[in-house]
Amino acid sequence: MERIKLHDKEFKIFIPSEKILNSIGEVAEKLNNDYKNCETPLFLSVLNGSFMFTSDLIKLIKFQCEISFIKLSSYSGTESTGEIKEILGLNSSVKGRNVIVVEDIVDTGTTIEELYKLLRAAGAADIKICTLLLKPEAYDKEIKIDYTAMQIPNDFIVGYGLDYNELGRQYKDIYVLD
Ligand code: IMP
Ligand code: MG
Repeated sequence: MERIKLHDKEFKIFIPSEKILNSIGEVAEKLNNDYKNCETPLFLSVLNGSFMFTSDLIKLIKFQCEISFIKLSSYSGTESTGEIKEILGLNSSVKGRNVIVVEDIVDTGTTIEELYKLLRAAGAADIKICTLLLKPEAYDKEIKIDYTAMQIPNDFIVGYGLDYNELGRQYKDIYVLD
């Protein structure tokens, strides 16, 4: 599909599925290399947006790992509110663990910053951030984004897990507001 309409807005195709999967393959290769001698890290996927990315990424991981989920929310409509709500908390112990946070997109970085603090407070030994997408022009935090599959301009996108007011998550391609 070249165009989609969600609520009141129209979106056009931006990143096709093949390109998404290619870039995930590259990130997986880096992780496989960096974590080959590391004791069972924990992938912590940030719901809802990162469910598709997590699913495709994890299938390419060759080292022993655990997967858990946390649900945070900072977005309302097409803008970050700057306020993070924890909707589903940490249910795995992260104390002394190597944690790899899996995000769909890092925009202002507010979500990642809050999650980072939360994981530090919970005693994680090491925290790395792995994101499908990064908006470098919007990101204004200090935390290092360790693994980025793709960088994009400061535009609003949907598809491949990402939503506009809960619609548009199911598409295999990524679309941009037109
Ligand atoms: P941040 O806290 O500003 O970095 O925003 C991060 C969260 O906002 C992401 O995990 C997404 O769920 C959501 N988000 C940021 N940019 C977009 C976008 O372009 N489309 C859809 N959701 C987005
Ligand atoms: Mg997210």
